[in-house]
Amino acid sequence: MVVGILVPVLGYLLSRTRPSANNLDPTLVGSVTDFPVGTGKVVAVNDKPVILVNTKAGDIKAFSAICTHLGYIVDYKKEKGVIHSPCHDGLFNPVTGAVVGGPPPRPLPAYELWIKDAKVYVGRPLGKIYGT
Ligand code: FES
Repeated sequence: MVVGILVPVLGYLLSRTRPSANNLDPTLVGSVTDFPVGTGKVVAVNDKPVILVNTKAGDIKAFSAICTHLGYIVDYKKEKGVIHSPCHDGLFNPVTGAVVGGPPPRPLPAYELWIKDAKVYVGRPLGKIYGT
């Protein structure tokens, strides 16, 4: 009888201490060498596009790759050093995600990012993603 009571209670308590099963676990997106300085790359994290940009000023940062204007997917323009939305020339700062040009009304939301053992992990968005 004690086991019959303890097992569900322990299961409940353990489920509260583990990351939930709703895809909020950090996602391994590659090695540090996959994101060299001066580049940007769009990866999928929990079915959402996320852009990772590595700059001398900011190291590796992760932002939603969904433009806050009308939802186009952004890319990185190395020659200008900006995150670029191709449809209406929206421009974002690759270190902060702030709007630096064009019609986007809000910055690109950042994502949690960790580097461990030279591997890059992306977690949850830290702001509202366009369309959600
Ligand atoms: S969708 Fe990005 S500027 Fe319009």
